[in-house]
Amino acid sequence: MNADNPRWIALQVMLKLFEQGRSLDDIFNSDWFRSLTVSRRDLGLSRELAYGLCRWHHVLSPMLKHRLQKPVRARDRDIEIILMMGLYQLLIMKTEAHAAVNETVKLAQAQKKKWASGLVNAVLRNVIREEVVCDDKLQARAYPDWMIARIEADWGDQAGEVLLWGNQRPPMTLRVDSEHCDVEEMIAKLADQGIGASQHAQVETAIVLESPCDVTRLPGFEAGLLSVQDAAAQIAASLLVCDSGARVLDACAAPGGKTAHLLQRYPNIDVDALDSSETRLERLRQNLRRVGHSARILVADAADLDSWFGGSRYDCILADLPCSASGVMRRHPDIKLLRRESDIMPLLAQQRKIVDALWSVLKPGGKMLYSTCSVFKDENEVQIAGFLERHADAAEITLPRADWGEPRPHGRQVLTGSHNMDGFYYALLSRIDSR
Ligand SMILES: C[S@@+](CC[C@H](N)C(=O)[O-])C[C@H]1O[C@@H](n2cnc3c(N)ncnc32)[C@H](O)[C@@H]1O
Repeated sequence: MNADNPRWIALQVMLKLFEQGRSLDDIFNSDWFRSLTVSRRDLGLSRELAYGLCRWHHVLSPMLKHRLQKPVRARDRDIEIILMMGLYQLLIMKTEAHAAVNETVKLAQAQKKKWASGLVNAVLRNVIREEVVCDDKLQARAYPDWMIARIEADWGDQAGEVLLWGNQRPPMTLRVDSEHCDVEEMIAKLADQGIGASQHAQVETAIVLESPCDVTRLPGFEAGLLSVQDAAAQIAASLLVCDSGARVLDACAAPGGKTAHLLQRYPNIDVDALDSSETRLERLRQNLRRVGHSARILVADAADLDSWFGGSRYDCILADLPCSASGVMRRHPDIKLLRRESDIMPLLAQQRKIVDALWSVLKPGGKMLYSTCSVFKDENEVQIAGFLERHADAAEITLPRADWGEPRPHGRQVLTGSHNMDGFYYALLSRIDSR
């Protein structure tokens, strides 16, 4: 068995994730993955298996442990992944039992560990015999314990929904360049191409596809009329209203979804797009080129003003900070495996440092939009409460009445899945002009 088998490819993907700590995005964009010569359909199945194994790991792993007499040794991680792939196909994908067992046993045989195929066969047949089901209660446990505890502590009665929605497959949502194209006309054009779509009820520039499709099939994608962006992320440009000629800083800008949207909505602004990752900035460059806009690009740590700030302060700042990404786990389920509880405190400290530094380069009278794709209160309303305590010259601007998300003591929170959006948080601050 080798690189033309989708299950074998998924096994390699998961080994890279576990052993090298690499994200699925990173692996799927790697030369190795791109060089695979299997059909689109098989590549799709490999991705589906890898996404599913991440999404359901915290359900499948204890289920498996419970069925093994002794823990799997570290050097047999391949067999552990194969076993979970079998469980995933049986319990979640609902693959026909005979096919799921056969394909999984074949994969185990190819690993050349004589004991493994018998074990795989026995475990999977037991699960079939016992008619195990993965019900809602079990599905809500598909997260590391520390994440469940945090979400339950933060959201009480709403936590169950946040957890269940976080396991759903996300829709493919598009942003229409509404300056150059009408949303309804675009929906009609998509229909002409056989792509079913509807306008998002809360976000006027957003179109939700009935099922995901390759961007190359989207009319107007190359011309920048359509971009892929979740509806919650599209709210940013409507909150940070920029006057013509404004000097704008997008402080954590890559890969540039919100930079492009700001420029489409306010074409006469002067934008500095800053990010600490050169690789991600390359994607920002490509995105801006595609939508036909430009920005001054700065590679730097936003908190280290000496390394990038030229002395001319900004009218508007978008601070879309690095965060736990706990609001986008339905899109990036590998976060469940890669993010550690011990990451949170350093992230909170980094957010504080960045946002304090950015404040000092905002003009008096200027506005800063703080955002994260997190549903953890510490990164959101608690962070803003601390910020307002530290900065006497900061005032919170109440966000306009809206039918997205829910108002919080500070800012507004979209919980994962509400109106089929990613989990997101926004707070708008202004710097008091005391002259
Ligand atoms: C949430 S993502 C930004 C998404 C982007 N605003 C968009 O809409 O496409 C956060 C970004 O912060 C960047 N980042 C992390 N630490 C940073 C720092 N100290 N200074 C500047 N950028 C940083 C990451 O490289 C990442 O691209």
